[in-house]
Amino acid sequence: MAIRRAKISVIGAGFVGSTAAHWAATKELGDVVLIDINDGTAKGKALDLFEASPVEGFDSTVVGGSDYALTANSDVVILTAGLPRKPGMSRDDLLAKNAAIVKECSMQVAKHSPNCVLIVVSNPLDAMCHVAQDATGFPRERVLGMAGVLDGARFRSFIAMETGTSVEDIQAFVFGGHGDTMVPMPRYVTVGGIPLEQMVAKDRVQALVDRTRKGGGEIVELLKTGSAYYAPSSSAVQMAEAIVRDKKRILPMAIRLEGEYGVKGLFCGVLGKLGAKGLESIPMLELNADEKAMFQKSADSVKELVEALKKLTY
Ligand code: NAI
Ligand code: 2OP
Repeated sequence: MAIRRAKISVIGAGFVGSTAAHWAATKELGDVVLIDINDGTAKGKALDLFEASPVEGFDSTVVGGSDYALTANSDVVILTAGLPRKPGMSRDDLLAKNAAIVKECSMQVAKHSPNCVLIVVSNPLDAMCHVAQDATGFPRERVLGMAGVLDGARFRSFIAMETGTSVEDIQAFVFGGHGDTMVPMPRYVTVGGIPLEQMVAKDRVQALVDRTRKGGGEIVELLKTGSAYYAPSSSAVQMAEAIVRDKKRILPMAIRLEGEYGVKGLFCGVLGKLGAKGLESIPMLELNADEKAMFQKSADSVKELVEALKKLTY
């Protein structure tokens, strides 16, 4: 019987992409391919990472370059290619530029790996999921956006700091779009099984929610020259792991909603079950009136961006 290792391709060999390749290889999720428009960067980082394998003892091959033929028949593709916002560039300029990059990369991905699950990371996340789905023509089960795992991980980290508890014992997730309107869900947080609201005063819970909403900006402000990459890349790789190991994990992610939570035809962050086929189901969560209103507001802000995208040429 021929046993084939899983294959994970990462598009964009910048901070998020190369760190994702690092986590994927060291976890031995499968063989790893790193693609970038800059051939030498992708080749060099892939070779450097592979040269760490005898030291770290991982059996994943890592290759890189600008040729998508390397990615042929990937099981999972993590798309991180994009440009950061530069001085003088408007939000719409960035939207159009990243949409063009995501469109081009997604078309190549679909051509070489027509059966893969595509995990989109490039920003603005929810809008880029629309671009990727349009470009690939993949069903919603195989185009998913990474944001919820990251935003949830930030929420969990802040709760761990606040309560002095192991991160392992904290369950928490975030709904909505990947932006200021995201909806952390404190009502569903547990710390070792105990509801957060029984452990932490209301005003402190609100402070943790606010910090989570601004979590990306907090890192940008500290780094000055770029955005977060350790937690984003590990979050994308957690999704990839759930797929290649068919783990049936329930994780928050951007999913194209088709009526769930009252939203239709829009990518937005909710809980999904991830396994070998990609999205396997959308377990529904009961939202109270406040949560529903916040989720709707967040979906509206994604819709605004998607409408802006429709007016742009890319
Ligand atoms: P980076 O600038 O370090 O890397 C981007 C890479 O994309 C560069 O190496 C660049 O050469 C490459 N690239 C540009 N055009 C390309 C093309 N046409 N084909 C292939 N590669 C191309 O940026 P970083 O920090 O790695 O971030 C990547 C993206 O991920 C950004 O859009 C960022 O905003 C987003 N991001 C999203 C998060 C989320 O939660 N969804 C979290 C963190 C970052
Ligand atoms: C973040 O949340 C920049 O989306 C990125 O760190």
